[in-house]
Parts: sequence; C-alpha cells; structure tokens
Amino acid sequence: MPVPPYEPMGVMDAIYQRRSVRDYTPELVSQASIHMLLYAAVQAPTAMHEEPWAFVVIQDRNLLDRLSETAKRTIWLQAQNEDERGLARNAMNMVSDPAYNVFYNARTLIVIYGKPLGPFVTADCWLAAENLMLAACTAGLGTCVIGLAVPALNSPEWKQMLEIPEEMTAYTPILLGYPASAPPPSTRNPPKMICWK
Ligand SMILES: Cc1cc2nc3c(=O)[nH]c(=O)nc-3n(C[C@H](O)[C@H](O)[C@H](O)COP(=O)(O)O)c2cc1C
Repeated sequence: MPVPPYEPMGVMDAIYQRRSVRDYTPELVSQASIHMLLYAAVQAPTAMHEEPWAFVVIQDRNLLDRLSETAKRTIWLQAQNEDERGLARNAMNMVSDPAYNVFYNARTLIVIYGKPLGPFVTADCWLAAENLMLAACTAGLGTCVIGLAVPALNSPEWKQMLEIPEEMTAYTPILLGYPASAPPPSTRNPPKMICWK
C-alpha cells in the first residue's frame, strides 16, 4: 500500500498534545492530507482482521450546515422522549440555540461507518478514529469528535442523501481543520487502579 507522506512526531507527543478543537480557520484541508489520515486510520487493530470501516468526507459547507440543523433537531426530539431526557439534557441548551453549529463552522467532516461484521465493529471504528486524530495532530491539524451528529447521520434521510448502504452504521463523526486558536487545556485524573496482582 503506498503510504502518503507524513510529518514524523513521537507518538507520546501526539497523545499528550491532541485536544478537541472547536475553532477553525476557513482554510480547507487538502485531499492529500485527508488521504494520509485515512491511511493512518486503517492501520488500527481490527478484530478477526475484518476491517469493517468505510469513510465519508464532507467538505460542502451547505451540506454541513444542513446536517448540523438536522443533528440539533434530532437531539431535541430525542430529549422530548421521557427515556432519553437524562441522556440528552446536557446537550439541550446547545441544540436549542439557533446560533449553535454542531460542527463549529469547520470545513471538513470525516465520518467512520461500520459494516455489520461481528461484535467488535464499534471498537474497530473507534480505534481507527483515534489513529486518525493522533495522525492529524502530528500534521498540525485539529480534530473533534461530534457525537451529537450520530443520530442524524443514521437517519434514513441522511443515509439516502450520502448514499450509505442500508446495513452500514455511522459511529464516529470527526471534525477536521486548522486550529484558529489554541484549544483550552484539558486534564485527566490519574488512572484509577482496581487491582494489580
Ligand atoms: C464519543 C464522544 C462524543 C463527543 N461528542 C462531542 C460533541 O458532540 N461536541 C463536542 O464539542 N465535543 C464532543 N466530544 C469531545 C469531548 O467533549 C472531549 O473529548 C472532552 O471534553 C475531552 O477534551 P479533549 O478531547 O480536548 O481532551 C466528544 C468526544 C467523544 C469521545
């Protein structure tokens, strides 16, 4: 497989420097850079070597704006359902704000879809997502997972619009672009140990 060029950067540097970016410049990420990231994504471990993933790249601004509106409406409707109210409460304020764009006006969205090839498809797709985000970090690109867009992407309306085969599921929408400002620091607790025998 021909590997597109990439910047060398230590894997630990990328792990510690990656932050979710929610403020992007208008500059469009090139096709070559996106190919480099997709090739990095598919190097992820994959259960039974099934490679169940497939990718959609959206750079059409109008389409992204429309998808953002559907995502907000879908989350809002979910919140009206008694069972889902707790799940969506935190998101309610954001999706009720007409000015809020779930994609923060980024120019590129990469969505990882999975084929139904066994119990580990979700894991495979998320592992590919992390590879992609760390690779983006090494290239000076920002990323942010947009979980809010998952229900909209899996709606019949959007599956048809994007020509997604019926059996495939969207797992991981990832924003991509050049950071317009440094993202705020994000800390983690030390690992909680249960036992070490
Ligand atoms: C499954 C998942 C869904 C997420 N969904 C959203 C989202 O819809 N919108 C958003 O702005 N950030 C979203 N994020 C980003 C998290 O808010 C972010 O990773 C977290 O605050 C930690 O910050 P860091 O990524 O900068 O370390 C999501 C992250 C994950 C893993």
